Amino acid sequence: MSRRSTRGARARWSSVSTELATILAGAPPGVLSLAGGFPNPKTFPTTEIAEIVTRLMRDDPGVALQYTAPEGIPSVREYLRDRQEQLQGRRPELEELMVTSGGMECIALTCRGVLAPGDTVVVEAPTYLGALMAFEHAGLAVEGVPMDEDGLRVEVLAERLAAGLRPKLLYVIPDYQNPSGFTLSLERRRALVELCRRYDVLIFEDVAYREISFDGSSLPSLWSLGPDVVLQAGTFSKLLSPGVRLGWAAARTDVIARLASAKQLTDQCAGALGQRIVEEYGRAGLFERGIPASRELYASHWRALDTALRAHMPSGVTWSEPTGGFFSWMTVPMDTMDLRPAALEAGVMYVPGSLFGGPPNSLRLSFSLLDEDELETAVVRLSTLF
Ligand SMILES: Cc1ncc(COP(=O)(O)O)c(C=O)c1O
Repeated sequence: MSRRSTRGARARWSSVSTELATILAGAPPGVLSLAGGFPNPKTFPTTEIAEIVTRLMRDDPGVALQYTAPEGIPSVREYLRDRQEQLQGRRPELEELMVTSGGMECIALTCRGVLAPGDTVVVEAPTYLGALMAFEHAGLAVEGVPMDEDGLRVEVLAERLAAGLRPKLLYVIPDYQNPSGFTLSLERRRALVELCRRYDVLIFEDVAYREISFDGSSLPSLWSLGPDVVLQAGTFSKLLSPGVRLGWAAARTDVIARLASAKQLTDQCAGALGQRIVEEYGRAGLFERGIPASRELYASHWRALDTALRAHMPSGVTWSEPTGGFFSWMTVPMDTMDLRPAALEAGVMYVPGSLFGGPPNSLRLSFSLLDEDELETAVVRLSTLF
């Protein structure tokens, strides 16, 4: 992945956006999909949400069904500040945190409010498809830096910066990255914050999977290590439900002010109902119950996938071993884009790695949605192709 002309980037954006729409539409009948990064509906707390909504309709409709400030409902921001302190050891000032309509919106707000066409953005190669599409469509020059099992290769970024690269933003997913499953090591986290501080590069830390570790552990967030140089974007999509369309941004006051002003041009405010649901759910201590159960489910899915891969994949096929999240990254001896029709014929779907800016012989496997038996069947079908 390297700098692209705006016209080239737009053409790529349009074909990738068709791909994304296909992934979001789900699998055709009879096909097992390892493609989409969907949370498992078994993790949706339907009874709790139903009770909360009933209560809100009775006690608080004037807030829950009304417009609100672009930065979010004051009590919700207060809850999110408490949550940051509890989970990441640092309490943001009120002006350092706002509510967003999810992680993807925060990326879009950053393109509008912080960046300008022609700016350079550094990303991990490979990286999240939604971010790539947003950056390319915004007319930004996208520069990929390679990763290994310890995440972004910070020493490669350091070399490029020393050689004159001057990005405005670095987009990273430090925990159980989408699509690779890799996690940025503690040593590299510290080095990265230092490096970006030195070169005045704003780090966009996407923590979409941070709380979905298989064993409940976590490394310090980049935002907790360097609140002066980090914009953290979080989301409740994988912790509660994408249906609430809710997330947060934590950053310096000037960055939050720009995002809030950009939000006036998108949806003006995140849905108040989703905001109040998250606040009530969180204040009742229900994340402490729900998230460990989700971790267990995804860890068990990963074990089922890994066991099936070990049993059925021929030599020459390798895959990453995530310690959290939804994804494993596979390398095979052929072009995975060319192989897609044969895969569909065999009854299995995946996302070719080249769509994420990865090499043509890579692909992403998502293990969040299929049940454990289906994961094994999907792997058997996939193995017939190699
Ligand atoms: C890395 C990453 N960031 C952001 C998002 C988008 O999350 P949201 O549903 O909050 O927009 C996703 C969704 O798959 C993701 O994988």
